[in-house]
Amino acid sequence: MTSIEARAREITARYRGKEGVLVHILEDLQEEFGYLPEEALAVVAAERGLSLAEIYGVASFYARFYFTPRGKNIIRVCTGTACHVRGASRVLAKLEEGLGLKCGETSPDLKYTLETVSCVGCCALAPVVVVNERTQQVLDPGKVLSVLKKE
Ligand code: FES
Repeated sequence: MTSIEARAREITARYRGKEGVLVHILEDLQEEFGYLPEEALAVVAAERGLSLAEIYGVASFYARFYFTPRGKNIIRVCTGTACHVRGASRVLAKLEEGLGLKCGETSPDLKYTLETVSCVGCCALAPVVVVNERTQQVLDPGKVLSVLKKE
């Protein structure tokens, strides 16, 4: 048994005998591992008497669950209308170039995950990048990598 399987068993056991708790189990697993490893989902499937496909069916319904490891730093480029008009595509291109990642990818060292996000409610600052939970204005898309140095 791998350490992931062992930990998944412990987490799943907390909910033994309880109904309607699958999403809570998935949340706990994601909090533990940062994503939902297949071997952990297989443990849940066996424990709950469900197929792996059923587990994936539920988990994939929610955008907040991830099936691959995520970076320590989550970089989200806002591509909402205001940010789009003010250069979000240049910001994204510079980040892709600088990090050597395409949007949606995580660096092999798990340091960064690069994503886009719709409006984050700071349109007056457009274009913006959200690094982890911090929203930052990008005054010069050519220097956007400097926002990462603050993390
Ligand atoms: S469109 Fe980017 S913050 Fe609103």
